[in-house]
Parts: sequence; C-alpha cells; structure tokens
Amino acid sequence: MSFAFPEEFKSPFEHFEGSFASYYEGRYHRDNPIDPVIRYILAGPGKRTRALLCMLSAKTFKAERQAVLPAIAIEMVHAYSLVHDDLPCMDDDDLRRGRPTAHVKFDEASALLAGDGILTDAFGLLADLDVSPFAELQVTAAQRLALLHELCSACGSRGMVVGQALDLYWTGKGATSREVLDQIHLNKTGALIGAACAMGAIVGGASEQEVSAFRTFGSNIGLAFQIIDDLVDDKEGTGKSKGKDEQAGKLTYLRLMSIEEAMNCAQERTTFAIETLRALQIDTVPVIRFSQALLERNF
Ligand code: IPE
Ligand code: IPE
Ligand code: MG
Ligand code: MG
Ligand code: MG
Repeated sequence: MSFAFPEEFKSPFEHFEGSFASYYEGRYHRDNPIDPVIRYILAGPGKRTRALLCMLSAKTFKAERQAVLPAIAIEMVHAYSLVHDDLPCMDDDDLRRGRPTAHVKFDEASALLAGDGILTDAFGLLADLDVSPFAELQVTAAQRLALLHELCSACGSRGMVVGQALDLYWTGKGATSREVLDQIHLNKTGALIGAACAMGAIVGGASEQEVSAFRTFGSNIGLAFQIIDDLVDDKEGTGKSKGKDEQAGKLTYLRLMSIEEAMNCAQERTTFAIETLRALQIDTVPVIRFSQALLERNF
C-alpha cells in the first residue's frame, strides 16, 4: 500500500521510508538463504503507522530525527509479528500487504527464521551504539536501555505474545465478555502501539510522567486501531484476504456488537487517549491529529 494518510503526514512518512530502506538494504544484502527473505518482509508496503506515531510523539520534544532509530526497531518487531501471525499454525493467511505472505513466497521454515532474525535484530539495533547513521543521533546509553525495556515489555509474554495466545485460544469458541475482548486487543495490538508512543517520548528526553501518558495514549489508540482492523476485515483494498475473521471464527468486536457500536468504542478510546495527552499541557497537536486520522481509516 502506498501512502494513504492525509497529506500533512507525508513528510515524516517519507523520512522514515528512506531511512528504513537504506538500513535494511545495507544490512540484509549478503549471499545467504535468509537475507532475501528478510528484505522481502521489510520492503513490504506497510502503512508504517507505528513508526509515524513514534516520530510524531517525539516531535512534541523536538526529537523527530532521533525517533527514526526506535521507529525502525518498532516496525521490525511489527513486521516479525505479522509474518508469524500469518503462518499456517496461526491465522494461516496467504496475502499480506498485497503480496504473498512470507511462508507462501518462500517456505514455512524460512518465514519462521526470518521472523526470529528480525525480532532479535530489532533489539540489537537499539543496543548497538555504533550503527551508522544512528550513532550520530546521540541517543544516550540510558535512553537506549529505556527503549529496550519499553519494547521488551510490549512485545514479550506479558504483552503482544499473550494477546496473540488469547486470540488463538478464543478462535472458534464463540462470544465472551467485553473484558476478555479488550484484554486481547490491548495486548496483541495496543501494547506495541503504546510502546511506539512511549519510545518517541523517551528519545525526546521526556519525564517519566510524560512517557507514561504517551504509553496510555498509544495503548488506547492501539485498541481503537484493532477495532477498525476488525471492521475493515471484510473490505477490499486492505492488501489482506477478505472476510478472514468471520471464516476463521475470530473473536472480534463484531461478535459482541454492531458496526456502529464498535465504531463508537473506537471513538471513545481515542477521545480518552487524547484527553490523557492534553492533560500534559504541552504541544501534542501533531500526534493527536494523526490519532484522529486513524479513526477515519477504511483500508
Ligand atoms: C495489521 O497491522 C495487524 C494489526 C495489529 C491490526 P497494520 O494494519 O498496521 O499493518 P501494516 O503494517 O500497515 O501492513
Ligand atoms: C494481528 O492481528 C496482531 C499481531 C500481528 C500482533 P490480526 O490477526 O487481526 O491482524 P491481521 O488482520 O492478520 O493483519
Ligand atoms: Mg491474528
Ligand atoms: Mg491475522
Ligand atoms: Mg485483523
């Protein structure tokens, strides 16, 4: 998918895309069996929502340039999560970002290993003080440690992984409570989006209270993002197989409520998220505007 958000977000998107491409093209070009798989995955035309959230959060603290480093790490973790999410033992999807999924294009073992490699390399990138051109960005060792901690908490077994496990557990089991549904969505999607915003604040040298507000903001818009992902699942133009959730018996918001009610939930979460940031009384307008644009998404 090419750039699909309002024009005002095109410049940070292009900034990110350029830096990301030169990073992965420079790193994954060796003559071995895994580099082409990793390049294929990272070059997939994603919306780069998490990267944009990280950079726009950092913009509050005038640290958009520094935020490219955590934005790349976050998009790598996200890309790995999609590759594993699509595997036959999980959602068994053959289309992603308008192209064959990694295990279809290559094979299952290659997709699994490429995912493992990308995930691990994301942490390596944050920990390595010498990777050009990020070394010049002056992200301090203390900030890098905080970034690593934030990312590990979001995508580990108390974050995205448990969310994915609960998602699979509830597949085909019928409806459950709203609390369970929120718990799944907040973990599988909200946690990483919360980390994206918190990491933007961390590279900006924000206080603990500010970082925490950005995390709360992000996890709430992350929940809204997943509700909309479920709402567009049966639409054309997402670059994914149409109607897959219904077919697989996934526990989505639409199992418990109407389209309109689900949209209201996404709206309410976004409003709460925005209030959390506004309470800081600093200039958070760009990232707030982006969270509002995310609600309008129909792709
Ligand atoms: C899809 O994420 C998976 C979810 C957590 C909803 P995105 O919709 O951000 O996927 P890309 O990165 O744009 O392909
Ligand atoms: C994916 O959720 C969440 C993660 C990859 C962590 P979905 O299974 O709903 O995402 P899509 O619809 O396949 O993109
Ligand atoms: Mg899934
Ligand atoms: Mg899926
Ligand atoms: Mg989905």
